Amino acid sequence: MAVSRRDVLKIGLLGAGAVALPIEVGIRAASAGSPHVHSPSFDAYSRPLRVPPVLSPVRTVDNMDFYDIVQKTGRQEILPGRTATVWGYNGVYPGPTLAVESGRAIVVTQHNALTQVATGLPGGVLTTAHPHGLDVEARSDGHPLSLVLPGGFLEHHYPNWQPATTLWYHDHAVDHTSRNVYMGLAGFYLISDAHERTLPLPRGRFDIPLLIQDKTFNADGSLFFPTDNGLPMRQGVLGDVLLINGTPQPFLKVERRRYRFRLLNGSDARFYNLRLSSGDAFTVIATDGGLMPHPVQVASLPMAAGERYSIIIDFAKYRVGTSIVLQNTDTGLFGDEVDPRKVSEVMRFDVVADAIDASSVPFDLAPPLDVDPRAASVTRRWEFERESDRWVINGNPFDGARIDARPRQGSTEIWEFVNKSGGWRHPIHVHLVQYLVLDRNGAPPRSHERGPKDTVSLGANETVRVAMKFSSPFTGIYVFHCHNVSHEDNMMMTQFEVMQSA
Ligand code: C2O
Ligand code: CU
Ligand code: CU
Repeated sequence: MAVSRRDVLKIGLLGAGAVALPIEVGIRAASAGSPHVHSPSFDAYSRPLRVPPVLSPVRTVDNMDFYDIVQKTGRQEILPGRTATVWGYNGVYPGPTLAVESGRAIVVTQHNALTQVATGLPGGVLTTAHPHGLDVEARSDGHPLSLVLPGGFLEHHYPNWQPATTLWYHDHAVDHTSRNVYMGLAGFYLISDAHERTLPLPRGRFDIPLLIQDKTFNADGSLFFPTDNGLPMRQGVLGDVLLINGTPQPFLKVERRRYRFRLLNGSDARFYNLRLSSGDAFTVIATDGGLMPHPVQVASLPMAAGERYSIIIDFAKYRVGTSIVLQNTDTGLFGDEVDPRKVSEVMRFDVVADAIDASSVPFDLAPPLDVDPRAASVTRRWEFERESDRWVINGNPFDGARIDARPRQGSTEIWEFVNKSGGWRHPIHVHLVQYLVLDRNGAPPRSHERGPKDTVSLGANETVRVAMKFSSPFTGIYVFHCHNVSHEDNMMMTQFEVMQSA
């Protein structure tokens, strides 16, 4: 990977010490494409699911916990019997889980040790760590242009005043989010609270986060990351191996009882539609920003990149010895050249023991998100389009010098996302806020979308309207973008600035 003109410009940007400067719009020759790589074959369900360890604070002062994370390379067995180099938080993929209590602030110092020597890339890797879904001050949000040079570090202040939810943290470096996340810079960020603990939901070892990603591997087991002549792939990176928490198609031994799974689609571009091979329904209890007002039963669950859902699966109905596969039926679609059979099975649950289950799923889970669309003072329309060599929002590519919206603190707005890019789909993510999905092509939102959301799937030719309230005490510049992170790297991103209330 050579240093591109855009990289050189970015380093110039850093020299200027400024965040809000324009970046160059990549102009590229006709695509040469990437060599077509197929991952070596391996046996599915030969490795158990791993759960990323929870990170411990390095110190506690008053009511605040301090964490240290070093972004560095590590060697890890991903495909059975082969070793890959990853770029990980603390050198592991997925990164360690940040598990915090609502109302308790933390400080996370992120050190960038992805130097030229470690990565073999000229200049090393510039990074910025973003807490996806967190209500957070702008300078701790991991703005794509607030880059940390190799050898540098940045202190992030996270207030955690949101209710219990499943967030994640991942890299967000301008032009290189796709590569950096693909190489391993992603981890869970879980918020718990007293209200959720009053509910009889499954907890402890029966509450399991599942990060779903697809990747491709070279014959030696190393990660294959395709580029378009050194620039980010325009359409997205679709791998032919499905990984859960970094293990390809793992199995999990389960007891005959309820489990909570916190699903996170951390893929570059892939959409999933998850179902159980038994055909049985399961229960969705939480969306991106926390518990839904009421649980909903679904036979399958569509997930776009960046989205999180908590689901409850009750294995009590299966006999010991039964295996149930978590399947993906969203395969073989537009732009996907991967053999659908390779990405149609995600993981397997093996029912191994009886259990006494005191958990249940109450009808009332949490109050609805405090957003009243009738209070909206402004409606903004955002069109997502494809241009020949890039992706644009309202006709514009990302430009760090341009702000496209200036919502007032405390106000409520309706944002209308309009997909004008033919068959392409886009997960639309807004930083800082959680929103309510109002409608999809005029019809009510899908049953599983009726909770707090920060990322919404925008299907082909769809218009989705969401309502958000800028209730955060923080003002400043934030981004919103397509969470197909290759589209994001190819300019489908813009900025809004939350202004002090008049
Ligand atoms: Cu998950 Cu702007 O990111
Ligand atoms: Cu985000
Ligand atoms: Cu997109």
